[in-house]
Amino acid sequence: MNILVTGGAGYIGSVVSEELVRSGHEVVVYDSLYKGHRRAVVDGAKLITADLTDSERLGQTLKESKIDGVIHLAADSLVGESVNNPGKYYGSNVTAGLVVLEEMRKCEISKIVFSSTAAVYGEPQKQPIQESDSINPTNPYGETKFAFERALHWYEKSYGIHYASLRYFNAAGATEHCGEHHEPETHLIPIVLQAIAGKRPFIEIYGDDYETPDGTCIRDYIHVSDLARAHVMALGILDSRSSIYNLGCGGTGYSVHEVINVASEITGRDCPVRVGKRRAGDPAVLIASSEKIKAELGWSPEQQSLHSIIESAWRWMRNHPRGYEE
Ligand SMILES: NC(=O)c1ccc[n+]([C@@H]2O[C@H](COP(=O)([O-])OP(=O)(O)OC[C@H]3O[C@@H](n4cnc5c(N)ncnc54)[C@H](O)[C@@H]3O)[C@@H](O)[C@H]2O)c1
Repeated sequence: MNILVTGGAGYIGSVVSEELVRSGHEVVVYDSLYKGHRRAVVDGAKLITADLTDSERLGQTLKESKIDGVIHLAADSLVGESVNNPGKYYGSNVTAGLVVLEEMRKCEISKIVFSSTAAVYGEPQKQPIQESDSINPTNPYGETKFAFERALHWYEKSYGIHYASLRYFNAAGATEHCGEHHEPETHLIPIVLQAIAGKRPFIEIYGDDYETPDGTCIRDYIHVSDLARAHVMALGILDSRSSIYNLGCGGTGYSVHEVINVASEITGRDCPVRVGKRRAGDPAVLIASSEKIKAELGWSPEQQSLHSIIESAWRWMRNHPRGYEE
């Protein structure tokens, strides 16, 4: 198929594009490069540098490239920023997303895979979280992702656009060519590796008095290649139906201490650590259940071990000491 990947110059979008090219699809990356990197666009994919809100350019791209389906990853995704600037998040994650849906409707494109987030669940009552659990986002990031999911629901009802919405927590790891380069970086694994590499003075642990075996928070990490595979597999249902799937690590998750210890083991270096206070709204454990997508599509993570996730991230960081910068 001819697939448009919005946000394909970003971290997950580049690996999704890689997986699409490998599976024989034609890929058009649509990215403003406002956060992404030209060098992250994979060989074999065409780059259109434009913003989602440029409806004319988007519509023209959909038509000229005879796009059959869209994988929508372009978004703003910093929780703290979303609290300080909710308007920005409604703009990028809802209004700009609606431009995608409107242009798809005009071009009669009826397939979209949406990179949502498990932040839609907020602070869940039980673990692992299932798709049927209550939705209660605690910040504008999760709220705006959910708002777009609702738009997908109504665009399906009104225009027959089928969607797959994928809800997950922490993407991690790298492939040989594509890795994580965010500015600012807010994700634990790259931050730990940066502290180990001397690129930041220390890593702050936000509380070590949680009710978990080692006192630090436990989170769900999924290798970015496994996420990419799920995005491509999800395209397969869109001829006939829509669905929402969680993507979870399939196990019991990893604590902050475990991440630090495994990173130290892999790199052979100590990680400078400071223990700070708990952050408001940080639950002790957040794990998503993948049972539904496993049962329906046969997806489960193949690179589940923290060791292989961190090893791939470290390899990419060593081979790209300045990330995607020249
Ligand atoms: N990284 C994670 O751990 C994680 C977890 C759950 C969900 N997600 C979701 O996955 C998606 C990708 O995340 P990521 O970490 O790869 O982010 P990223 O910032 O690396 O990539 C996003 C890309 O979208 C582009 N973009 C943003 N707004 C745009 C616009 N209006 N027009 C055109 N391009 C635009 C940016 O330039 C960037 O290249 C996001 O939707 C995010 O919410 C990410």
